[in-house]
Amino acid sequence: MTMRLEVLTKNLHMSNIGSYNERIKDFDWSIAEKELDYQPGQVINIGWYCSDRICRMGKADKQALIWEGSTGAEKRYTYDDIRRLSDSIGQYLRDLGIQPEDRVCLFMDKVPELYIGFLGILKIGAIAQPLFSAFGDESLLVRLENAQTKVIITQKKHAPKVRKILAQLPWLKYMIIVDQEPGKPLQEREVAMNMEELPAAETFQIYPTKAESPSVLHYTSGTTGQPKGVKHVHYSLISQYLTAKWVLDLRDDDIYWCTADPGWVTGTSYGIIGAFSNGVTQCVLDSGFSAESWYRFIGKHRITMWYSAPTAIRSLMKAGDEIVKKFDLSSLRHLASVGEPLNSEAVIWSEKVFGKPFLDTYWQTETGSIMISNYPGMKIKPGSMGKPFPGITATVIDPEKYEPFAEPGKIGLIAIRPGWPSMMRMYWNNEETYNNKFRNGWYLPGDRSSIDSEGYFWFVGRDDDVINTGGHLVSPFEVESALLEHPAVAESAVVSKPDFVNMEVVKAYVTLKPGFIPGKDLDLDIMNFVRKKLSPLAMPQEIEFIDALPKTRSGKIMRRILHAREWGEEIGDTSTLEND
Ligand code: WT7
Repeated sequence: MTMRLEVLTKNLHMSNIGSYNERIKDFDWSIAEKELDYQPGQVINIGWYCSDRICRMGKADKQALIWEGSTGAEKRYTYDDIRRLSDSIGQYLRDLGIQPEDRVCLFMDKVPELYIGFLGILKIGAIAQPLFSAFGDESLLVRLENAQTKVIITQKKHAPKVRKILAQLPWLKYMIIVDQEPGKPLQEREVAMNMEELPAAETFQIYPTKAESPSVLHYTSGTTGQPKGVKHVHYSLISQYLTAKWVLDLRDDDIYWCTADPGWVTGTSYGIIGAFSNGVTQCVLDSGFSAESWYRFIGKHRITMWYSAPTAIRSLMKAGDEIVKKFDLSSLRHLASVGEPLNSEAVIWSEKVFGKPFLDTYWQTETGSIMISNYPGMKIKPGSMGKPFPGITATVIDPEKYEPFAEPGKIGLIAIRPGWPSMMRMYWNNEETYNNKFRNGWYLPGDRSSIDSEGYFWFVGRDDDVINTGGHLVSPFEVESALLEHPAVAESAVVSKPDFVNMEVVKAYVTLKPGFIPGKDLDLDIMNFVRKKLSPLAMPQEIEFIDALPKTRSGKIMRRILHAREWGEEIGDTSTLEND
């Protein structure tokens, strides 16, 4: 109990949000509109808000982006640099014939071209489609096919994955390579673009996007079917700006580090839009994880605000408390987390070693910005996701009646009243799946939770079979489909299994075709097969060969039974089981 009290008191400092209880009274999104000088009906362009506007506010020479690569190389860009370079990229894309609303995919590691290119795409009214650079050719193909993407911007190390599927992508006009050595021959449809050497686009005009003009297309995995493209619009800025200000508490003198990759929504909503529209200096570390390198990075750049994920925090916990003492982390002022359940141990541990608790925030690709959260200054209950952001009406509903429960403590479905600025506008070409996300006027994110008597949300789990491994959603369907393409696999069922660091990892149950014998070599071969096709995240950490999969009488694989087996849970009703 003493530890919990400590968490409560340390969080009580002056903050942008001030008093949560005051802010929720009479809240209106026009607060953000006014701060951004935006009048309804006028032009609103995220690219402009993230660069030109900050320059106009007298911060042209302020550092916008400090980038560090895996070899320790550093690059720095001021707000004027990102304004100028995003104009040049926008002009370059226009000269290639890219029109407003064309999809332009960003398929890169966390290099500066990714951050600045994102703004350039938005400045010409085109739609930015970021994809995680570790994706294999199959993951890439379904997403580029679905979006009918016109251009992909990538690095030479990722180009072979695109070349492999080029023949299947008739809409893809160009592959732009940002780090091609001069004079090196290019192949069909390939062009080289060196951002630093692009001509100045002095007469460049930003395309006059409006509130409902499409901006970003992020792909997210579901239980069945192919990944869904979540369509956002320029008006999302209103939510992203204000949540970054009130939850992440971004201030003019902050040095901010969002550890997420812009291939995922946290990396764009808060790793680009929220950060730059608030005019802070942000740092990017473009290399793999290690406790040592992360602490060194914080110490070197004097990071003040750190937005990360439970998996990373648990990895740091695993690395121990001693290593923390080797670094000067005294600059840290405020910490927040997103992506998966943040266990109370992690909150209490961070309070102990960093002197500050990680504040849990809950949202998803579809919501575009933080929905439920802990706030600076508000009492924290470690293990709880906190309360709805001002202006967000969120509750937990009875999964049968689709009505909120009358009393606290009941577990049901999280439900949010639609209408906040950064809500997705559609799943790309998939109106039916989009409509299925609503019941009784509520948007259902697909998660289960309870609410306590003080209005705090306590996450319980997802309401579908989607696996959340280290904060990344993996569709069992996609992994099963990839497995079936392996010559040895007859059938497969993919479920999650518990893991200390990643919370859940992918496990595959596999039946083999005649003539194939289970064994370590086959195991590794199948794992690698999935890793290359999909991504390292989707790769099964364990493959179990079995004689037959549990199925319903109608032939549907019952993942539920295999899931229960992994988690040591009750199996429940098996009356529809075929082989019982
Ligand atoms: C799903 C969304 C938006 C951040 C990156 C993930 C789970 C997210 C929490 C949290 C427990 C969480 C939910 C959600 N999730 N935040 N604080 N506690 N679970 O975006 O890939 O769209 O995943 O991640 O299940 O629906 P995403």
